[in-house]
Amino acid sequence: MMGQQVFIFDTTLRDGEQVPGCKLNTQEKLALAVRLEELGVDILEAGFPVSSPGDFESVNQIAKTLKNTVVCGLSRAVQNDIEVAAAALKPAKRFRIHTGIGTSDLHIKYKFNATREEIIERAISAVKLARNFTDDVEFYAEDAGRTDNEYLARVIEAVVKAGATTLNIPDTTGYCLPYQYQAKMEYLVNNVPNIDKAILSCHCHNDLGLATANSIAGVMGGARQIECTINGLGERAGNTALEEVVMVLNQHSDLGYRTNINTRLLNPISHEVSEIMRMGVQPNKAIVGANAFSHSSGIHQDGFLKEAQTYEIINPELVGAEASKIVLTARSGRSALAHRLHKLGYPYTRNDIDVLYPIFLQLADRKKEVTHDDLVEIATAYTK
Ligand code: KIV
Ligand code: ZN
Repeated sequence: MMGQQVFIFDTTLRDGEQVPGCKLNTQEKLALAVRLEELGVDILEAGFPVSSPGDFESVNQIAKTLKNTVVCGLSRAVQNDIEVAAAALKPAKRFRIHTGIGTSDLHIKYKFNATREEIIERAISAVKLARNFTDDVEFYAEDAGRTDNEYLARVIEAVVKAGATTLNIPDTTGYCLPYQYQAKMEYLVNNVPNIDKAILSCHCHNDLGLATANSIAGVMGGARQIECTINGLGERAGNTALEEVVMVLNQHSDLGYRTNINTRLLNPISHEVSEIMRMGVQPNKAIVGANAFSHSSGIHQDGFLKEAQTYEIINPELVGAEASKIVLTARSGRSALAHRLHKLGYPYTRNDIDVLYPIFLQLADRKKEVTHDDLVEIATAYTK
C-alpha cells in the first residue's frame, strides 16, 4: 500500500480504562489486547503498572501474550514508576516505556511547584533511566497543548538527547484548535535540531470535540503517530477515536498516509469494547454508531436507492458494519416505502404505492419508526 505510515498507538486499556465504570480485570484486558493486536495497532498502551497490583498484572500478562505489537506501559517521571513499568513489561517481545511530566506553566507551578529548568532536569533523568531498560522510550510533555512553544522545543531537544525515540505532544485538556496544534508540530519540526532522531506523536483529548481534527492536523504538521482509543473512550470527553482517524486517513488517500489497521474489524471491536466496558456508543457516532449507515429522510433515501454513493462516503463492509439501512419514518418517501415492501415480497406498482403511502404516513406520524411487522399489516389489509 502506498503512502507514509502513521503509527497507531492504542490507549483504550490505559487512557480509555481510566473512565469511571470502564475498569477491566486482567482477563478482560488480555482478551481486548489480543483483539487490538488482530486489529493491527502498532503500539498498545496496556496500563500504568505502578498504579495498582492489578494493573501491573494486566500489563505483565499482555506483555507475555502479544506477538507483534509493541507493548507499552505508562509511568510518571519518577524512578519507582519507571522501574515498576520495566518489570511489568520485561517478558514482552518488544516493549516501550512511556514516561513524562507536565510542561505547561500551570502544571509546573501548581502540580510541581518547580521551575522550568528543574522540569527539564527531571525529564532528562526519567528518559535516561528508562533507556537502561529499553531502547524504545516515549516521552510525554503533559499539557503540551498549553505549553509555550519555545520552552516545549527546549524540553524536546533535551529529551531526544537523553534518548527518547518518540515524542508525545499531548493536548491534555483538549484546548487547541486544529491550526494551532498543526503549528505546534511544525514549530517542533523546524526548531528542534535533533528532531529527526525521533517520531512526533499526537495525543488529543476531546473537550471541545476537536480530538480527531487535531490529530489529523498534527499529522499534517509532521507527526507520524496518533494515540487514540476505540470509541473515543478516555478521560472526561474522551480521546481521539481510533476508528475516526484511521478512516479519515483511509478516505483521504490524497493526503498520502496509511495505517496498518484492518478496517473490517472496526465495528466488531467497537461492539466488543462497548460491551466489555459497559459503555454504550452514541447512535450518531461516526463509523461505529448504530445510525452511521442508516438513511431516514425521503430525499436521502431516494438518492441512496438510486446510487449509494450519493449519501454514503464509506462502504459499510469496509468497516465491518451491517449493510446500510433504510429506516421508515414520517420523513420517508414513496421510493423507500416501495423498496421495503419489495424486499418483504410485495412487488407493488407505482399506483399501489400511491394508495398505500397516505396510510403509511398516518401510522408513521403516530410512531417513531415503522417496522417490518407494521408493513406486513398494511400490505395484508391492502391485499384483502
Ligand atoms: O492526556 C495526557 O496528557 C496523557 C499523558 C499521561 C500521556 O494521557
Ligand atoms: Zn490522555
